[in-house]
Amino acid sequence: MRRRTDEVREEGFTDHVLVCTNDRDAEYACCADVGGREVLDAVKSWLRERDVFWSHVYVAETTCLGLCSEDGTAIAIQPRNEWYSDVTPDEVPALLDGEFGPAADRLGVSPTASVPSRQR
Ligand code: FES
Repeated sequence: MRRRTDEVREEGFTDHVLVCTNDRDAEYACCADVGGREVLDAVKSWLRERDVFWSHVYVAETTCLGLCSEDGTAIAIQPRNEWYSDVTPDEVPALLDGEFGPAADRLGVSPTASVPSRQR
């Protein structure tokens, strides 16, 4: 095992966008069936267009985030502890504009996100 926290921090990491693309063979909704892959692609495109993809903002395709819906995909943004469901590909730019700023100049942990909600 290697601890690489300092390396990641020094490289400029600020945020991690987790996009659910979970597929399940069941009667319940899953993000794979409601555009999860397209939402993931839209997230990557938005970050690439601002030159922060995998330099400051990491992206991970995940399994279930516990926010399953028939109306769109689930996204979590860490460490700011922001959670979204029902995201459609066309909504990704507005979501990321709101989180990171239209020019991706608001990267890093938001001041309110570092306090657990039950302590606010
Ligand atoms: S399948 Fe995506 S949040 Fe559950």
